[in-house]
This record gives sequence, C-alpha cells and structure tokens, in this order.
Amino acid sequence: MDNNHQANHQPHVLIFPLPFQGPVNCALKLAELLCLSGIHVTFLNTDHIHGPLLRHTQVVSRFNTYPNFRFETIPDGLEHEKPVSGDRFIEVMEAAYAVSQPIFREMMVSGRLSRRSERPVTVMIPDACFSFAVDVGLETSTPVICFDTVSPCCLWSSYLNLPTLIEAGDVPFKGDDLDEFIKSVPGTEHIIRRRDLASFCRTTDLSDPAIQLILKEARTAPQAQGLIINTFEALDTVILPHMRKLCPNVYTIGPLHSLHKSRVPMSPKTTFSNSVWKEDRTCLSWLDNHPRKSVLYVSIGSLATMTITQLIEIWYGVVNSGKPFLWVRRPGSITGEYDESQIPRKLLDRTKEIGCIVDWAPQEDVLAHPAVGGFLTHSGWNSTIESIVQGVPMMCWPYFVDQQVTSRFVGEVWKLGIDMKDTCDRLIIEKAVKDVMETREEVFSKCADNWANLAKESIAESGSSSLSLERPINCALKLAE
Ligand code: UDX
Repeated sequence: MDNNHQANHQPHVLIFPLPFQGPVNCALKLAELLCLSGIHVTFLNTDHIHGPLLRHTQVVSRFNTYPNFRFETIPDGLEHEKPVSGDRFIEVMEAAYAVSQPIFREMMVSGRLSRRSERPVTVMIPDACFSFAVDVGLETSTPVICFDTVSPCCLWSSYLNLPTLIEAGDVPFKGDDLDEFIKSVPGTEHIIRRRDLASFCRTTDLSDPAIQLILKEARTAPQAQGLIINTFEALDTVILPHMRKLCPNVYTIGPLHSLHKSRVPMSPKTTFSNSVWKEDRTCLSWLDNHPRKSVLYVSIGSLATMTITQLIEIWYGVVNSGKPFLWVRRPGSITGEYDESQIPRKLLDRTKEIGCIVDWAPQEDVLAHPAVGGFLTHSGWNSTIESIVQGVPMMCWPYFVDQQVTSRFVGEVWKLGIDMKDTCDRLIIEKAVKDVMETREEVFSKCADNWANLAKESIAESGSSSLSLERPINCALKLAE
C-alpha cells in the first residue's frame, strides 16, 4: 500500500465549534479524546475566538504534542480583541453565516482543507447550530455528526421542537400566561411552562434572527448521521427516548469534562482547562481557608451580563445571606458605566471581610473544592454539568438561550436547587442561598450526591458515556476504510 493510499484512508475528523468560550472548550475536549484514539483532527476556529485561544499558551502547547492534531482558522469578518458578550451572540452568528459560511463551503468543495492536512476529511463534527455545515456535508458526501453543546433539555424542548411550537401557536408569544404549561412538546408537558422555553422563544416576531437560526438547526440536525450531546443517560431519561425518535443516533458523552479528565494523561503540572481566558488560581488558596461546604460560588459564565441595578441586588442578596463568597466578575460583564462610588459602603466593607472577587476562575477546580457548598449560576450548560458532577447544588439566575430551560430542570426535574428565573431581588436571592446552603441543605445535598455518583458511573470504563463515545469514534474509523 503506498503512502498516499494510507493517508487517504486514515480517519480525519473536522471539528467546527461555535465561536464562544463554552463550545470551544467542549469541542477541544472531544478533539483530544479523538486524537487519543488515533484519529486525525482538524480543529477549525473562526478568527475572533482563535486569537484569545492562542494566547493561552498552555492549551496550545498541549495540543501541539499531538502529531495528529492541527488548528485551522476561518475568517468571520469580526473585529478582533473585542470581548464578546451575550448581547453580541446574534452578531457573531450572523458573521459566521455571512462571512465564514461561503469560505467553509469553498474549503470543503475544493478539497483545500483536506489537501492542507494531506488527507481527506472523512467525518465532519460541526456545532449543530452551523446548519450550513450539514448542507455542505450533504453536498460533498462527507458524513456529518453534529455536536450540540447546549443543554439537551433545551435542545429537545426549544430547538428540535421549534417547528412544533410554532405550529401549535406556542411561539411567538402573544402576551400569553407565562406560567401556562406547554403541551406541544412530547416528554416535557408537565415540566416546561411558557417562561421556561429558551429565551429566543419569547419573541413576538417569527422573523427574529435567533428564531430563523434555530429553525435551520431544527431542519438540518436530524439529517446528520449522528448527534453528540454533553449529558449522561440517567440524567436525561425524560427527553432522550423522544429525541431518539427524531435523531436515532444520539451519543451521550457527558459529563464530557470528566470523561476527558479520566482519559487524558497529564502530569501534575499541566492543566486540563481549555479556558481561553487566564484563570486566577489564587482563589483556590482563599478557598483552602474555609470550612467544608461553607462558600457560595458566584459566576455567570463567559457571555451573560448584568446591569448595575442587578449587580447591586445580587450583591445584597449574597452579602445578606452571610455566606463567604467567591465571585467571578468577568471584565465587561457589567453593562453600562459605573464606578465604586455607586456601590453602597456596606457591600464593599462586607466583601472585604467575607468575599473574594476574581476576573476569571479555574471553575472546574473551584467546584471540586470541598469548601464550596453552593453555586449561584446563570445555568450555562457547562457550568451546570460541572456542578452536577461535583455534587454542588445551585441557585439559578438564567440569562439567555438554553439557560431558561436548564434552570427549570435543575429545580423541577433533578431537584438540585432553586430556579430564580425572571426575578432579581435581594430578598429572593438571600432566601435561595439560605435555603440551599442552610435550611434545606440536607435534602439538596442528598440529591446532589446521588446525581454526582450517577455522573461518575457513566464515565467509568463500561459506563454509558464511555460506551457512547466509542460509537462516533468507531463511526469515524469505519467511514475511513
Ligand atoms: C454558553 C451559554 O451561555 C450556555 O448556556 C450554553 O450552554 C453554552 O454556551 P457560557 O455562558 O459561557 O456558555 O456558560 P457555560 O456553558 O456555563 O460555560 C462556561 C464555561 O466557562 C464553563 O466550562 C466554566 O468552567 C468556564 N468558566 C467559567 C471558567 O473556566 N472560569 C470562570 O470563571 C467561569
């Protein structure tokens, strides 16, 4: 067999994640697991997310150790160096569609991408939101397995069923009762109220760009050969049987960060983190000085923002709960101009006494720290599943997209915390923190420990997620034959 023939028949997966911190982080973990199985991986980033990632030299040097891994970039026409927050989500997606989409198609149709890595792409793993990648897969006869990093409960209830919701008249909203249960989505009839649907469903206009984007995903995702999601079988029993009727090959490989950690060999000096921002690890020593389960961890992830009024309400709620707190205040996460003179003295003084504020934390290590007893979160899916594995109960303040659905599942289905959706009131926040970390601590902890054990079982050698990971790997290997 000549060298060319061998190169042509080696599995080569192209991963194309959504250009945001959370999805890129997840996709890198999947990429590393595929590399370890001997699969060649090209990781395609849009320009504006790749710049910050390159500065995280530890991540880049770790991936450079894999001879079967390479980064590629694709233009998106966006201004670089601007921090992207949730309010620019649609702008980033529109840029990907307007600028990256035709270049991507050309790369694949001309074989340019395959030539650059000297072997043809045998399988594409784009984010399911990049529906154009599924179309390009069909056009070029390249098998596609979508990877969706949003919460599966949202993927099912609000993405894949968006056409159903529209047909049933549940979306767009017409000033209807937000507490009414949504009966049109199979499996969640007694769980999801109108207010729990993904944030983009709150529109009154079907031509809304977010609705149009998700409708495209709902159309193309079931056409892919498979769908990878970051959950484990036991966690999503409510929706998985329904999802599999639409997309038969659903691969549940979560909690992905734990599966990754259990498989990737690391020296004590290396980090598992693929965070595109620099983590302030000093907060771990601060946590070391606190008793078990005493600290409240506060973070709203990489995209959510809050106004100064919301900041002050949340701050009061946190301070008045009396719990020591570690708070991630990502630069740019407070909208509008403000200075310290606007912050009440009490908040600043109490923060000096019982608080620790950092720009960006090593979140997985924070949640694993024994001192952390509760997580005030925006209910981003990565944060939620990271908290589930560590058995940390949550107080949920969802911001957008899937977070409205996730926080409902946290409160109603998994009984892992309190959903504070659509409120931002210091008294509600104080009560939620006290409920979760004091009054009902035992109940929440028991539930949280149970889910944490099930999560760990799923990534054990013959656990459901380990077995599920083999399926796309085998698919990639088989398709290359
Ligand atoms: C977004 C959406 O918000 C989320 O709902 C969707 O499911 C995925 O894309 P993001 O807002 O960043 O992601 O939230 P989340 O999914 O929770 O991801 C945040 C990631 O950043 C987590 O992996 C978390 O560990 C990490 N993080 C967060 C840090 O490393 N340090 C921090 O200080 C805060």
